[in-house]
Amino acid sequence: MAHESTYQPGSGFERWLDARLPVVRVMHDQFMVFPTPRNLNYWWTFGGILTFMLIAQIATGIVLAMHYVPTPEHAFDSVETIMRDVNWGWFLRYSHAVGASMFFFAVYIHLFRGMYYGSYKAPREVLWIIGVLILLMMIATAFMGYSLVWGQMSFWAVTVITNLFSSLDAVIPGLGTTLVQWIWGGFSVGAPTLNRLYALHYLFPFVILGLVILHIWALHVPGNNNPTGIEVKSPKETVPFHPYYTIKDGFALVMFVILFAAVVFYAPNWLGHPDNYVPANPLQTPPHIVPEWYFLPFYAILRAIPNKLFGVIALLSSIAVLFFIPWLDTSKVRSTSYRPIYRWFFWAFVLTSIALGYLGSQPPEGWYLIFGRLLTAYYFAFFLLIMPVVGLIETPRRLPGSITEAVLGHAEESEATSPPVPPPPPPAQQRRPAEVL
Ligand code: HEM
Repeated sequence: MAHESTYQPGSGFERWLDARLPVVRVMHDQFMVFPTPRNLNYWWTFGGILTFMLIAQIATGIVLAMHYVPTPEHAFDSVETIMRDVNWGWFLRYSHAVGASMFFFAVYIHLFRGMYYGSYKAPREVLWIIGVLILLMMIATAFMGYSLVWGQMSFWAVTVITNLFSSLDAVIPGLGTTLVQWIWGGFSVGAPTLNRLYALHYLFPFVILGLVILHIWALHVPGNNNPTGIEVKSPKETVPFHPYYTIKDGFALVMFVILFAAVVFYAPNWLGHPDNYVPANPLQTPPHIVPEWYFLPFYAILRAIPNKLFGVIALLSSIAVLFFIPWLDTSKVRSTSYRPIYRWFFWAFVLTSIALGYLGSQPPEGWYLIFGRLLTAYYFAFFLLIMPVVGLIETPRRLPGSITEAVLGHAEESEATSPPVPPPPPPAQQRRPAEVL
């Protein structure tokens, strides 16, 4: 990987193991002494927070699965049994449900951080693409997990979303309907559907775990980007990951867990929909079917398009476009901090995403729909027009020569703190030895 191994086995057993399976060496090189830029800010702590959240979701999910029953007759009741009769069941379930929200909250910050600092640019394209794959898998996993409660919102969300595949009927008549019935395992959402959603909801987090390992591997080949977007130029610009970033990441994680705990203990249903406390009823459609908050921007995009097939295409494209941003962004400068024009468009994009989230929670009519369409247009224009064009026409601010210059600030400051610079050597010394002789 990125640097020479400095691991020295400390005992006979470590030497024995190192010659057979050098796991301790890998952990030491990649997580203890790994050279990390010294100027990373708190936005860089979210990768560690996400890793924690993934492990927490898997741990709570496995125990929930020991009590959950994946059949339409028992699913809802088994969740209520977990809440009332299983020891600490309420805590497990609320941690898992709120945990999903916190996971998305953290992943969106992580993603916008990557976009702001241009972390997707060469040589980190593969790292970025693996990130987008993780996001897709997280979306699928959360959708399937929500369905397992088998409340009204679960049932109707599954019905609406699986029905989207029927839009393919407009391409090849019958294809969409056949596909939807294949997914359902019948002629409507029912027992086979719930069973397969459960099987996949259990499987996908482990696929995500595998992708996260690749993600961190792909990070450790080029090393971290940093807030300046300028590559590390000397080992002095880095510090070992441990203890410097284990402490910083640990502190941020504790803050995040306090927030997480506050929601679990004081407002566990804050982000949920009350209709999901009503058992699924295939004969009664709820007046407003809304997904969880983290899907709302995508839902707004789906509904902004008046045609079902094109709505589905827009929905899929709104995520797929992320795969291409390493090539859509034509700027030579990574960090948005040095991009005076692009930064306005970037923040407008962040606001657009939030506003789309709000519109996704409202009925698709009147002004909501008009704004939904305008903001959907901006969402795509940002990637397909603004990123390529602004990168070409913008004059970036003067970049610091290195991370050191960016951190130490102006030349006067560095002169005040560093020893006096020696006078330049006489001309003979500047020549190469052969020339002097
Ligand atoms: C389960 C979800 C994820 C986990 C556990 C995870 C984990 C990590 C970790 C530990 C780091 C290094 C620390 C840091 O930079 O924050 C990292 C960096 C990074 N991640 Fe993720 N990640 C996840 C999802 C994503 C997604 C969805 C994207 C984007 C689509 C993404 C893009 C990146 C990029 C570009 C970096 C490099 C940051 C830099 O050095 O500037 N990650 N990730």
